[in-house]
Amino acid sequence: MAHEDLPIPFYSSLDPVYGDGSLLEEAQIRFQTVKAKFVELFGREPQLYARSPGRVNLIGEHIDYEGYSVLPMAIRQDTIVAIGKRDAGESSKEVRIGNVNPKYSVCTYPADPHQEVDLKNHKWGHYFICGYKGIYDYAKSKGTDFGLPFGLDAVVDGTVPTGSGLSSSAALVCSATIAIMAVLDNNFPKKEIAQLTCECERYIGTQSGGMDQAISVMAKTGFAELIDFNPIRATDVKLPDGGTFVIAHSLAESQKAVTAATNYNNRVVECRLAAIVLAIKLGMAANDAISKVKTLSDVEGLCVSFAGKHGSSDPCFAVKAHLKEEPYTAEDIEKIIGANLTSIFANSLSSLDVLKAAQHFKIFQRASHVYSEAKRVYSFRDVVLSKLSDDDKLKKLGELMNESHSSCSVLYECSCPELEELVKICRDNGALGARLTGAGWGGCAVALVKESILPQFIQNVKESFYKSRIEKGVIRKDDIGLYLFASKPSSGAAIFKF
Ligand code: GLA
Repeated sequence: MAHEDLPIPFYSSLDPVYGDGSLLEEAQIRFQTVKAKFVELFGREPQLYARSPGRVNLIGEHIDYEGYSVLPMAIRQDTIVAIGKRDAGESSKEVRIGNVNPKYSVCTYPADPHQEVDLKNHKWGHYFICGYKGIYDYAKSKGTDFGLPFGLDAVVDGTVPTGSGLSSSAALVCSATIAIMAVLDNNFPKKEIAQLTCECERYIGTQSGGMDQAISVMAKTGFAELIDFNPIRATDVKLPDGGTFVIAHSLAESQKAVTAATNYNNRVVECRLAAIVLAIKLGMAANDAISKVKTLSDVEGLCVSFAGKHGSSDPCFAVKAHLKEEPYTAEDIEKIIGANLTSIFANSLSSLDVLKAAQHFKIFQRASHVYSEAKRVYSFRDVVLSKLSDDDKLKKLGELMNESHSSCSVLYECSCPELEELVKICRDNGALGARLTGAGWGGCAVALVKESILPQFIQNVKESFYKSRIEKGVIRKDDIGLYLFASKPSSGAAIFKF
């Protein structure tokens, strides 16, 4: 059976996920702490636990929501959820969510899968409720209700740094969803959980693609994964020997949900507009383009056949021929498509928020990024599969990562000064390639570094980037390991019952 068709693995001990070294010891302590917190808050023991990891995206940024494949790997940092159903009666009408981190106070919600997630009042517990709603939506789509609604108690412990671009949000949504699924005595195929968690995380107000949830659910120890969408599929990618990925936090927090209207969702809207305008310029009737074209991958065929008539196979050829580099105003685009922008996005409140906040739309730049980045993902995979020596492979992968960063920075404008500084420091200190990872606008960079220079590399980045920030009190010296670390591809989601 294909990996993505399998259910989430169910274990009665921690070692299949955490191995037998220091990671296991750390995990044992964390699970004990979660259990103790559960007992302290709710006066009984949890029924079971679920865990789901964060991820680092190696290449393929801001293209998953356009339908294109991406290439991330899971990291060891994860979120654990301990869960128990509440008894029938009054108490079954509430969902209570605690956290071992005192920074996050207990959140209480009605046990109502129809409740609106209160986006104006952002709370950490909202991510759990996304999972609660997601399981209900999934049940409905299967013509059942799994006995929902019912009350739940849960305690969360997360080690994926928040606002880091390492998908702490997906780790929480996936572990919550899987815990809820498991406490209902259910277990669905991984690809369906990846799809349902991707959809339910959108209740938080970001129109994200499915990369973070897919890798969190489907990751395998020792492999990065090429993730395809529609349908979701994961293909193992064994990275060449001799190289390591180093993750470094820019210390600028990336708050994807809070800044959605000007950053993340803005880019999703710009891509949709780029796709509609291209479709019309390439001969599609405006009405068809507006109703049928959702993503740039929907018009790739038209772009490529246009390029083909001019001796090229590159969709960017059509972008250059048909879109102008100067930003478009809303009126410019409305003139081309013959409709009001607000009417196109009337069904999406978060897109309407984007339209309100936007001054202009850089559709040439966004489309150029998406098509070129989509190609780089396959080039990356092809280099890995090629017959080149490991050294040459690593060199080429580094170059692709550098190209990806420049496209994110210049064309997609999702970098920030701290990330630019950090990426440059990584390269100046011998990284074969370095780029921002995840949504950007803060968060982490990922650098490909030869194992032979790893200790010196880490030391130099500490000196050049973090030392001054430690002196200014931005972070504590003892915490440096949370912000700068090498990472191996780790395993995906799991359920535990001891
Ligand atoms: C966030 C989203 C993902 C993806 C990345 C950018 O992490 O959740 O779906 O779009 O940004 O590549």
